[in-house]
Amino acid sequence: MDIYMDNSATTKVYDEVADEMFLYLKTHYANPSSVHRMGLEVEKKLKGARKRMANLIGANEKEIVFTSGGTESDNMAIRGVVKANKRAGKHIITTSIEHPAVLNTVKELEEEGYEVTYLKPDENGVVSFDSFKSSLREDTVLAAIMHVNNETGSVQPIEKIGKYLSRKKGSKTYFFVDAVQSFGKIDFKPSKYGIDLMSVSSHKIHGPKGAGILYIKEGTKIRPMITGGGQEMGIRSGTENIPGIMGFVMAAERAVDNIKGNVEKISRLKDMLRFEIEKNIDDIKVNSPEDGACHVLNVSFLGVRGEVLLHSLEQDGVYVSTGSACSSKKKGSHVLLEMGLSPKELDGAIRFSLSGMNDESQILAGAKMVQKHVEEYRKIVKR
Ligand SMILES: Cc1ncc(COP(=O)(O)O)c(C=O)c1O
Repeated sequence: MDIYMDNSATTKVYDEVADEMFLYLKTHYANPSSVHRMGLEVEKKLKGARKRMANLIGANEKEIVFTSGGTESDNMAIRGVVKANKRAGKHIITTSIEHPAVLNTVKELEEEGYEVTYLKPDENGVVSFDSFKSSLREDTVLAAIMHVNNETGSVQPIEKIGKYLSRKKGSKTYFFVDAVQSFGKIDFKPSKYGIDLMSVSSHKIHGPKGAGILYIKEGTKIRPMITGGGQEMGIRSGTENIPGIMGFVMAAERAVDNIKGNVEKISRLKDMLRFEIEKNIDDIKVNSPEDGACHVLNVSFLGVRGEVLLHSLEQDGVYVSTGSACSSKKKGSHVLLEMGLSPKELDGAIRFSLSGMNDESQILAGAKMVQKHVEEYRKIVKR
C-alpha cells in the first residue's frame, strides 16, 4: 500500500476531474477562439468555467485570468504590477519565506534596480504585521505576502495587512497574495481581505497540473507578460488549456463546497500523526506551529539526515518530502533557516503533507514506518 504524504508538492486528481478532462480532450477539443460551432461551444464552456471560478472566490468574471499554475500567476502578478505602475515607486515588500516563484522573481527585479524588503519570520514561521507596517513606504508599489507557507503550514497575517492597506488613505501599494497552499484549506474571499491579486494552483487541490488562476481585482493596473492573440482579456495570450481549466474548476468547486468537512478530517489526521510521532520518537522538534494550516506537519528528527530518511521510507511505500518539492534538490530549506533552526535541526527536517485522500490507517502505518526507520538510522549511526 502506498502512503502518499506529499500533498503540498502535488495531489492525485479526482476521478471525476480526470473524466471531465477526458471529455475536453476527446470531444470538445476545438479552439475556443474559432468562430465555427465547435469553437463556440467550447467558448461557452470556458465562459461558464470562468463564472463558476469567480463565484467560488466572490469575484466577477473579468477578475479571473486562467494561467498555467502558481508559478506563472506569481510571475504575472509581480512583474505585471511593477511594470505597469512605475510611477508609484520602486520598492517591494515580501517575506524571506516565499516560494521560489516569488523570491526569484523579486530577486530579478532587484537586479533591475527595484529595492526589496524581505520580512523575516519568527520561530513559528510567521512574519509580523508590525514589521510590515514599519517597512511600508510612500514608494512601495507592491506587497507580495504568501498566505500559507508550503514548508511549515504557517499562516501569515494577510487579512490584517490587506485591511490596513485598503483603509490607508492615498495608498498606491498593490497587495498580492500567493494562496497556492491556502485555497481549499482556509475559507476566505480576496475582496473581504483587501487583496488586489491572488494566485491559485490547480494541482494542489486534486486538479490537473498546468492550470491555475490569477485573480486581478478590477481596476488594477497590470501589464501583460505574455503577449500574442489577446486571450484572457489580453492579459495572458495563448490558446487556453481547456481540459486543464475544466478539470481545475471542477476540483476547485469540490474544494470549496467540502471545505469544512475536509479541513476537519485533515486536521484530525495531522493531529494523529503528530501525536504518534511525539509519543514514539525521542529527540524531535516540530517545526510547524500549532495554529498552522491543516495539512502540513514539518518535523526535525535530530541526528537523522532527512534525505536518507525520505529514501528509506520510500522503500516501504511512504512518500514524504524534505523542504519543498521545488527546492528539495538543493541543500537545506530557506524557510527553516530563516526560522532560526540549527544545522542539526535543518538536516533532519521532514515535511508530511496530507489531503482528504489520506485516512487513519495510513497515518498509523506511516507513523510506525517513520519510527522504525528513525530507530534503525540512529542505531547505525551510534555504532
Ligand atoms: C506557495 C506556493 N507557491 C507557488 C507554487 C508554484 O505552483 P505551481 O507548481 O502550480 O507552479 C507552489 C508549489 O509548490 C507553492 O507551494
